[in-house]
Amino acid sequence: MKSEATTLLQRARGVLPGGVCSSTRYNAALGGPMYVAQAEGARFTDVDGDTYIDMCCGHGAALLGHKHPALVKAVTAAAERGFCSAFDTADVVNLAGKLCDYLPCAERVRFTNSGSEATLHALRLCRAFTGRDKLIRFTGHFHGYHEHTYIGGHPPAEALAHASTYRESAGIPEAFTQFIVALPFNDLAAVEAALREHADEIAVVILEPFDFNSGGIPPQPGFLAGLRKLTRQHGVLLFFDEIQSSFKQGLGGAQAAFGVTPDICTIGKALGGGLPLSAICGHADIMDRFKPVGDVQHSGTFNAPLLNVLAGAAFCAEAESPEFYPHLEKIGARFYEGVDGIVRDLGLPIQVPRFGARFGLMLGLDDTPVDYRDALRHRRDLMLEFVRQTARRGVYFHDYGGAPCHHGFSVAHTVEDIDRVLEVLASAFAAIKDGFAQSARA
Ligand SMILES: Cc1ncc(COP(=O)(O)O)c(C=O)c1O
Repeated sequence: MKSEATTLLQRARGVLPGGVCSSTRYNAALGGPMYVAQAEGARFTDVDGDTYIDMCCGHGAALLGHKHPALVKAVTAAAERGFCSAFDTADVVNLAGKLCDYLPCAERVRFTNSGSEATLHALRLCRAFTGRDKLIRFTGHFHGYHEHTYIGGHPPAEALAHASTYRESAGIPEAFTQFIVALPFNDLAAVEAALREHADEIAVVILEPFDFNSGGIPPQPGFLAGLRKLTRQHGVLLFFDEIQSSFKQGLGGAQAAFGVTPDICTIGKALGGGLPLSAICGHADIMDRFKPVGDVQHSGTFNAPLLNVLAGAAFCAEAESPEFYPHLEKIGARFYEGVDGIVRDLGLPIQVPRFGARFGLMLGLDDTPVDYRDALRHRRDLMLEFVRQTARRGVYFHDYGGAPCHHGFSVAHTVEDIDRVLEVLASAFAAIKDGFAQSARA
């Protein structure tokens, strides 16, 4: 840690638990959080005055890059109109209409702020609609930090055989584990067996259609379609958690990209352009169970505040522009071709699974990962060193404690930025190359 950051961290530890506002914001590779002073476009500058190309991009929220003029305009307009918190506006109706146009499953929309909030309320809706309490989820997937889904997502190897009862945080009552059936991703036979075993108990199958939260595990051909068929057969809802995958490859999310329409989905992160905005979207018969039409409560002082809604509208206008996805595709092609070439030339066991503007980095794997068991083979020690090596050269990858997670670029990244990132990646991979031959250090 550099001087300003060290001083700040000392002060922060006195007023914020661990010195941070979000537990995973602590960057183990760097010895503290990245304290940022200013961000613009594809770059940010830290409190010590060093500038980095950002390959974290707000964990996927800053798909427009930082300080995009359209967002600044939207935020200013919200201020001028008086913020209007706790009122619905014409803008929110328009934005909901856009989401219904983009997303195959969307006939109705409810807005929330964070992704965790979205999955929390969506799961309540699924339970009310089906009259059942249990959910099938997949190990390696992440659906927010609340009690209903923070069980069985990322168990350590020794707990994998009992993933459904593995609580990922202290403070989650054991009673919540009775509602969880955690299965391996891409295993239709396991889903079918669980649906039979728990006949009439499962409300919903929830998943990330592309598992970003284990380093990027793609659905195998036929898996999503198979889930669609099985859930219909058993009267169970299919729920795509697209908080991360939405907008990364197109307006229609992973559901459009893979051609499988769920009953309900959650979207977020990029939607607010960097401000907190998420949404629950689904078929009308399900969504109309929300009060005041139906009997499911979903309310909040800060539901759809004008500030966030105008940011969302500005993001959508940008994403609809004819240059947006072609630019992401152009720099994506350059980045992925470049990184594939570096990995090939160095002869390293690294996988870079990708979905549009977001990708994983799995170190120590020779083949495309299939489920969370593959993610457990990722070399966390090398990931932490990789993050140190890239940060030293002015490119920021978040460390996620060394876990295989997701990284990405934004529409503000230029071809020149990508070329610089590739140079730095080549140096960083070369610097950790020898580590692959050694066994993992604790
Ligand atoms: C797939 C998925 N669902 C839910 C969440 C939770 O979103 P938030 O951090 O906005 O609460 C995330 C966040 O990373 C996510 O990737």
